[in-house]
This record gives sequence, C-alpha cells and structure tokens, in this order.
Amino acid sequence: MADEQLTDQRAGTPVLVAVAWPYASGSRHLGHLAGAYLPADVYARHQRLVGNRVLMVSGSDVHGTPITVRADAEGVTPRELSDRYHAEFVADWERLGISWDLYTSTGTENHAAVTHDIFLKLLRNGHIDRRSSEQYFDAEAGRFLPDRYIEGTCPHCDYAEARGDQCEDCGRTLDPEELLDPRSKITGSSPELRSTEHFYLRLSDFSDELAAWLDTREGWRRHVLNFSKGWVEEGLHDRAITRDLDWGVDLPVDDLGPGKRIYVWFEAVIGYLSASMEWAQSTGQPEAWRAWWEGDDARSVYFIGKDNIPFHTIIWPGMLLGYGGLNLPTDVPANQYVTFKGGKASASRGVGLTIGAGLEMFQADALRYALAASLPEQSDTDLSVDEIGRRVNEELVATWGNLVNRVLSMVHRTCDGAVPGASGRTPEDLALLEVVDEALDTAGSQIHRVELRAALRTGMGAAAAANAYLNATEPWKLAKVDPERANVVLGTALAAVVGVRVALAPYLPFSTSALDDVLGLVDSWERRELSPGSPIGKPTPLFAKVDMDVLLSEQVDG
Ligand code: MF3
Ligand code: ZN
Repeated sequence: MADEQLTDQRAGTPVLVAVAWPYASGSRHLGHLAGAYLPADVYARHQRLVGNRVLMVSGSDVHGTPITVRADAEGVTPRELSDRYHAEFVADWERLGISWDLYTSTGTENHAAVTHDIFLKLLRNGHIDRRSSEQYFDAEAGRFLPDRYIEGTCPHCDYAEARGDQCEDCGRTLDPEELLDPRSKITGSSPELRSTEHFYLRLSDFSDELAAWLDTREGWRRHVLNFSKGWVEEGLHDRAITRDLDWGVDLPVDDLGPGKRIYVWFEAVIGYLSASMEWAQSTGQPEAWRAWWEGDDARSVYFIGKDNIPFHTIIWPGMLLGYGGLNLPTDVPANQYVTFKGGKASASRGVGLTIGAGLEMFQADALRYALAASLPEQSDTDLSVDEIGRRVNEELVATWGNLVNRVLSMVHRTCDGAVPGASGRTPEDLALLEVVDEALDTAGSQIHRVELRAALRTGMGAAAAANAYLNATEPWKLAKVDPERANVVLGTALAAVVGVRVALAPYLPFSTSALDDVLGLVDSWERRELSPGSPIGKPTPLFAKVDMDVLLSEQVDG
C-alpha cells in the first residue's frame, strides 16, 4: 500500500478538481450534493493533505432553457432568477464547507471571452460549420422551441414527460425531434417544423481519436467507461452548438443574424477552463492556470452526475482535441443517482430534500457523513430522512463522537489533563496504532481511486478498533489499580484518535477543526504523535444526537 501511494500520489502534482456547474434554476437537493459537490470536496481535501496542488473550481450555470423556462414560469427575468439561486448556492457551499478555490458563474465577461476564443479556434480549425435544419416552432408564440421548450414522450422508455434535451426517467440525452407527441411548453400546442440555420460542432471528426483515448483510460468506473464507449460506437453525430434564444453567451461572429445564442452545453463545460483562468487572474499570476491544463504531470478529475457523462467523456474531450494543447480529463468518476424514497431526486420535479432543508435538520458534518456513507458510486442508492438520522446516531455519534469524547475526557481527568508519553507501549497498544496507520494507507489509496464510501468505512473501522481497544483494556478501571498502565493506554487511545481524525478529516471539516486547539491542525495525511505534556482540556461533544421523534414529526414531504 505504502509503495502504491508513493508512486501514484507524488506530492506537488497539480490536480484539477472540476465539479459540475449547477443550473441556477432552483434550489439544489441532497441528490446533487451527494452526486458531485460532496465527493469533489472530500477528494480535494484529501489531495491537499497528501501535498498535491489542488485547483477546485465550478460555478453556477446561468444559461440554457432550464433557466429561461423557470424564469418564464415565475414571471421574472432569467438574470433575476439566476442571481437569486447563485446567491443561494454560494451560501449553501459556505454552510457545507465545500472548499472551492473558485466558485464563479457562466455569466462573467471572462467566461464569454474564453468561450469566444474556443469557438473561433474550432471554427478556424474547421471543426465548426453552418447548417440548416428543421426545428420545432410554436406558431402561436411566434418562436422556435429549443431543448426544454419541447416536451413529449421518450422514444426509449415511453416516459410521457420527457424534455427536448433529455429524458429524466431513463437519463438519455435527446434531440427535440426524437420526442413522440411533441408539445410546446409555452402554449401546449403541437409545434410545426421550420427551417433555421445554426453552427454545428463536427464531433464526428474526433470519433477515432476519442475511441482510442477512451481505450487508454485506466481505473475508470465501469458504468462510465461502458456508457462512453457505447456512445462512440453508436456513431458520433455532429451537434448544433447554437440555439434560437435570446438568453446565453452571444456569438463572436454575426453570420447567423440576430436571435441566436451559443448552446448552454457548448459553453458550460468551457467553464472549467474559464474558471481556472479567472482564478489565476485573481492570484496575480494570470498564467498560473497552465500548470493544471498543460502540464504532463497534471491530473484532472471531473465530479458529475451520470446524466452529464457524455458531455464530459466525449463532447468536452472532443472540443479539447479540436482546440489543441490542453489536457483531457484524467478521470470522470460520475455518480449514479440518489433516489429519495423511490423516485429520482430532482430539483425540477421538486422531489427530495433541498440542501437548505437538509441543513435545517442536520449539522453540516452529520449530513456530510450520512451522504458520504451512501454515495451512489456504483449504483443508485436510496435515501430518506430517517436513514440519515439513523446513520448519524448509530455510526457517527456512537462510534466516532463517543470515542473522541471518551478519550479526551479520560485524558483530561486521569492524566492530569496532559498528553501522556509514548514509552511503555505493549504489543497490544502497538497493534492498535498499526491498525490506524494501515487504515490511513488504505483510505488514502481508496480516496485516490475515488472510492469514497469505502474510504469512509475504512476510517470508521479504525474508530471501531479504538473503541474495542478501550473496551478490552478498560482504562477507567486501570486508573484505580495501575495508574501508570492507565496512562499508557490512554496515551495510545489518544494517538489512535489523532490518526483516525486524519482519515475522517476530508469528510468532517467542521468537527475536525473544532479539535484543532486540542489536537493540532490536520495538515498532512499521517498520524503524528502529540507532544507529551501538552494540555488536553475538557472536551465538548462534537456532534449532537438527532432526536428521531422530532425529526420524523417535522418531516413534511412524503
Ligand atoms: N448545469 C448542468 C446540470 O446541472 C451541469 C453542467 S456541468 C458543466 O446538469 F460543467 F458542463 F457545466
Ligand atoms: Zn426515457
């Protein structure tokens, strides 16, 4: 294990943690949090602790029909809507401790400028051309109906409420023309087809290169790789990258006339690059982004939900190939869905709990713990409020919170409130510390492979071992009969707590830093011995136990 860590976690490696850009069209729910933001944050925090140079970026996706459809429905402008939710997201991240280097939005001038640069270079390189096609038009409303302005029946799964860009039920990306029984979202009428001109990305130019690149991907999640390879094997279609809309990034050329904007999915993925550049600008070293995008040693890991897979494993890589000189994703550990009592959690369908509602019910670390313990890494997972509460009480509080509290109280009480020395440890004591050190190694490798659920279990396993050690050694009894041995045992237990705390630090930032005064800052992925004699004050409990009766009676949605 140690060797593996040394070879593939070289310290100082630039690691881009690229996180899906949430649509600023409504509150995000716990499914989004578990799908992208929490795993990204856990991964980034671990990478920083092993000494890598993390750049973690994202921002609000303020364009596209998800925004305009919702703004129309509420009778506000797209900008009012997206400003409102952008502010809400920023507050959510703060309360959750998501450790962005930059969280921006696609509404910035910088983002438009970078999008224009990419568009123009792809155009010059011959990877963008102009085509006419027939698209749905609402004669009553007098306008074209791109993406979510069309609804109908999914041709793949028969879901009756599929949208023109994607079926929420089977997850497939769609073109409006594929829908059966199409109807206008604006007037409900049956749309007619009219000719319109758009720019197209010649994605098919990259079929062979993308297929070859996907073949070289190692360690990717099987469902991500299978889906992506399948997409390429079915044959890549050239894709319209403009729309008949008046909200979005404008075009850097005026060949198409007015009323056209760049398609949200063409520009949103560019956000990873534009945000890296904006971050570099803000540090006063405007070229600093290059280390993450051009370096041979750099890694880039994209945290997204599975409905976003093709945009990140095919279309964005295709755009990067066409642009030239920038790194393609190292890994795209897309998550499956979190279902909330059966149905897929979805902001637009109002299913599931919003992040804000989750934070009303649970402490941030408690919520992070429960979600991390059931991340949908390999398959969909089901969540409910009582399951979160149960995990908090029976695992986080019972195993970790109590361990910390017990050990710190006993050291405070029986060791004159000071860290005992490390001498005199028996094989039994050393065995516990060995378990903790191995857990750190194992959890480090697991996080490196983005197996975050497993790594959390590894850390909690070490906490359980420390509890078992206390139950076996019974220092509270030893204190009376053999105070010297009690000191050694408590010193060992304290050393174990210090190590387990490191393993849990990426998951539990608030409670981890609450212990900084007592146990020192967690600033590297290793167990350090505390200096003997340093004071240990009376601890305050790290986590509140969830009152399940109150929790379940407060629960309004069903
Ligand atoms: N806004 C998109 C969504 O919520 C995600 C975009 S990820 C991006 O599904 F990076 F491509 F923007
Ligand atoms: Zn479907």
